[in-house]
This record gives sequence, structure tokens and C-alpha cells, in this order.
Amino acid sequence: MNVLIVHAHPEPTSLTRHLADTAAATLLAQGHAVQHSDLYAMGWKAVFDADDFPDRLDAARLSFVQESGHAFANGRQSPDVEAEQRKLMAADALILVFPLWWFGMPAIMKGWIERVWAFGLAYGYRGAGNAYRYGEGGLAGKRALLGVCVGGPEADYGPRGINGPLEELLFPITHGTLFFPGMQVLPSFAVYDTGRLDAIRVAEATAAWQTRVERLFDDAPLPFRPQNGGGYPDRHVLADHLAPGRSGLTVHLDADPA
Ligand SMILES: Cc1cc2nc3c(=O)[nH]c(=O)nc-3n(C[C@H](O)[C@H](O)[C@H](O)COP(=O)(O)O)c2cc1C
Repeated sequence: MNVLIVHAHPEPTSLTRHLADTAAATLLAQGHAVQHSDLYAMGWKAVFDADDFPDRLDAARLSFVQESGHAFANGRQSPDVEAEQRKLMAADALILVFPLWWFGMPAIMKGWIERVWAFGLAYGYRGAGNAYRYGEGGLAGKRALLGVCVGGPEADYGPRGINGPLEELLFPITHGTLFFPGMQVLPSFAVYDTGRLDAIRVAEATAAWQTRVERLFDDAPLPFRPQNGGGYPDRHVLADHLAPGRSGLTVHLDADPA
């Protein structure tokens, strides 16, 4: 299999870099092919702006959606974006490794998503609006896994932890960004308390991460409900008989998948 690892940390001795390198070594040892996008080392342009569209459909007014669709469909994207899309399309799985910064990914990685997730590929698939999303779309058939370095202690991210449950905090990434264009997303892997890890806990975390990476193509994905699986009759709102009486993010997980 081909796996693309994208990681966001400029420091070679960081735990984030260590997890990215561990993932690569683990996959190579299993016989997989690995591509690696080290965003800081690449000098990745984080900001999605007018420079992304040198050949505009409408020079007077910048519509990101329209220009993204035009550039993607007509081979007018910038070479860095095209190169990342080529790696992504060749990949059977994507692993994103990053430190949790203000409850999300660092800006450079958010910018990777914003720029690489083109209209026509990750949204507006097949020119059909939102007909294909959440389980279907341009990235269907691929798996995705997050490896996250978290500064705070695990208790802060537990079911009643003060920060909120980590998997719910990551929902905009797992569900809104990865499942949206069709990827199967595995439960997130986190290392907590990263500022206070001694060598033993680093070794434990490394071993646990290795195991998760080894099972990249075996573990069950998060049971997100597909848009077109019958749960959303009007493609917008979950049917009343599913998760009855409940609301919030977790209703979009099927607690009892077939
Ligand atoms: C800008 C910034 C924002 C951060 N936000 C959070 C946060 O929201 N929650 C948290 O638990 N830790 C937060 N931290 C701590 C980082 O998660 C921690 O430094 C990181 O896990 C360490 O991993 P590293 O050695 O790879 O840098 C933040 C750190 C920085 C620099």
C-alpha cells in the first residue's frame, strides 16, 4: 500500500517529528511505500489567497470556490498544490501528525488542507454540489489517521474533562475534513502531557503508536454515518428514529454499525 504522512513541526527533536518518523519506519518495515510531506521543511505556503489563482476566471472578484473549481478542472493550480494532490491520490492512506495548538492543527497544516482540498475533488465532487459527501467523494477508498501530541493531561480530555473529549474536539478534522470527501477515518491516536514525558513514557507512547500504525489497514474506522446511507432523508438532518432525542456531534456516529 501507499501511505502519505503529513506532519507539521519545524523542530527535528520534537515529539511530533518522532511520531512521524516512527510511522514511516513502521510502514516501511511492513513493506508499504511511504511519501512524507514535512510542511515546515517544504516551506509550505499556509495562506490560501489570490496567489493560488494566477489564471482567474473572474479577475474582478475573488471567489475561492469558483476559482478553485476552475483551477482544478483546467490544470491551473499552483505546482505545490498539484504535487500534494498527486501524492494524496496515489495514497491508500493519509496520516496527519501534529501538535494540538488551540484545540486544532497548526495553521500550516490547516493551510495544507485548505489549498489541497480543491473544489471538484474534496467538495463539489462531480459538479454535483453536495450530492457526494460524508462517506462518498473524491477521496473515497482511502483511510485516514491522526497522530496528535497534546500538551494537557488525559483527564482534561476525558468524557467529562474540562477541555471536552478529544475525539469530539477533533470532529471538524475527522468528520468535517476527512470523512466529508469520503475517507474512512480511524479513531485518533493521542499522546497526552507531552511536556512532562520521561523516557519510559515516550517509549510506551512510541510502542502504542507503532501498533496503531501497523493496524492502519485493519482497524475499524469511526462509524460515522454516511450522508447517502439512509440516515439523512433530506441530506441535511438526521432522521428522527436515529439517536432519538439526542443532538450534538455524537449523533453522527452510529453506535451500533451493521
Ligand atoms: C500555539 C500553541 C497552542 C497550544 N494549544 C494547546 C491546546 O489547545 N491544548 C493542549 O493540550 N496543549 C496545547 N499546546 C501544547 C502543545 O500541544 C505541546 O506543546 C505539544 O504537544 C508538544 O509536542 P512537540 O514536542 O511535538 O512540540 C499548545 C502549544 C502551542 C505552542
